[in-house]
Amino acid sequence: MRRRGFLALTGLVGLALAGCAGSQGNANTLAFRNPLRIPPLLDPEPGPDGVKRYPLRLVEGRTELRPGKPARTWGINGGHLGPTLRARRGDRLAMTVTNTLGEASTLHWHGMRLPAVMDGGPHQMIEPGAVWSPEWTVDQPAATTWYHPHPHGRTGLHVYRGLAGMFILDDEKGGDGTGLPSAYGEDDIPLILQDRKFERNGELDEGFGGTFGPLGDDILINGTYDPHFRVTTTRVRFRVLNGSSARVYTIGFSDEREFHVVANDAGLLERPVAVRRFRISPGERFEIVAAFEAGEEVLLKSHGGDTGADVEEGDYDLLKLAAAPQLRPSAPLPARLTPLAPPDRGTRTRTFRLGGSNINGRDMDMARIDEVVPAGARETWEVDNVTFSHNFHIHDAVFRVLDIDGERPPEHLRGPKDTVYVPGRTKVRLAVEFGRHTDPGTPYMYHCHILRHEDKGMMGQFVIVPPGSEDTTPRRLPVAGHGHH
Ligand code: C2O
Ligand code: CU
Ligand code: CU
Repeated sequence: MRRRGFLALTGLVGLALAGCAGSQGNANTLAFRNPLRIPPLLDPEPGPDGVKRYPLRLVEGRTELRPGKPARTWGINGGHLGPTLRARRGDRLAMTVTNTLGEASTLHWHGMRLPAVMDGGPHQMIEPGAVWSPEWTVDQPAATTWYHPHPHGRTGLHVYRGLAGMFILDDEKGGDGTGLPSAYGEDDIPLILQDRKFERNGELDEGFGGTFGPLGDDILINGTYDPHFRVTTTRVRFRVLNGSSARVYTIGFSDEREFHVVANDAGLLERPVAVRRFRISPGERFEIVAAFEAGEEVLLKSHGGDTGADVEEGDYDLLKLAAAPQLRPSAPLPARLTPLAPPDRGTRTRTFRLGGSNINGRDMDMARIDEVVPAGARETWEVDNVTFSHNFHIHDAVFRVLDIDGERPPEHLRGPKDTVYVPGRTKVRLAVEFGRHTDPGTPYMYHCHILRHEDKGMMGQFVIVPPGSEDTTPRRLPVAGHGHH
């Protein structure tokens, strides 16, 4: 019972229990026996037309998540998780997603700006045995994005079973033009953090009940239990993705060393920002650069306690970093990364009130269009959380956090984002820039990325329409909710 908000809601006095609330975790229980698995890069097949083709298959697997104890898992092109995809700005991409599972799913490109029919949300279901072939042109700055299923009501379970992967976007020339560490798997390392709860026999505990769904005390990184990574350079970039259902991590090192945040979800910060800790909620990405001394060992951790108003997390050891006796020197950290225009609040403000598991008092309805947004609009979205901890993600958009309860966000949160943590009883204002692909008949989603909440209906739909046609756009879709199976 580490969820104070949950206790308060169930009528118990949460505060009295908060003292022992953060006591769980896995601190000092790991041996760091297993080398960190680096998801393989999937080389696209070149098409005659210059298109990059990525064949992806959703498959069932059996995976030793716990050593010696195989578990039933799902994966993409393998039994658990998926390959890392990588593309450049300007690339034309053609995905073929084949669903070999026993039930329908989708694949959503979280953080990608693309036409709504390619988005992979709950309206693009892939039935068992079917193939879905979206195509789009990458047109956004270098960033760490990711992909995962989005079937309405089943997203939490599908991601938990292992359907998720990283999708790195580079600029036109490849890389991000900064000189930051960029050798994938050597000094540019994906870290997909996911908590899991295991049965005795090693199978995944799939109890998706309660307020937050399953909360595990085993944290897998890239699917690796008890992981270590051998550092061979004086600086390493980590692309940290919280792919968990509900956990919020407060990432730092065991010796509280300083490191630099260089990018948020949707791209680079203006300059590297020194921190000792940062908080990451489900769906968010932070790119960080840390410096190492030859021969040293240090742990990457999640510090318990201060994750916000309601969620009290335990102390977690995540990854042992063991530096080689001799390190290859890395380039110094650049002073500047990319110029960012000041956030543009636009002229229109919309308010989203986060309830227990609804938005503006309404549950998700697949046939209802909640918001109509003109193409390329800039708006202020005010996210007012009147309950316990949530977060907020918008498809096909990039935003900057204007303020959190009226205060300017800390400097390491001032970059381009698509997902933001909203602690209990907190109001966050976002300066949002929307995409330019119009389709009045196919919605994008905005939602809490705590997957249990999303699945319970804490999600809304918006369409992007040609400017001037907002008032004439129908608010219902001809289809009734068809996402349930
Ligand atoms: Cu990570 Cu609606 O998605
Ligand atoms: Cu998304
Ligand atoms: Cu939520």
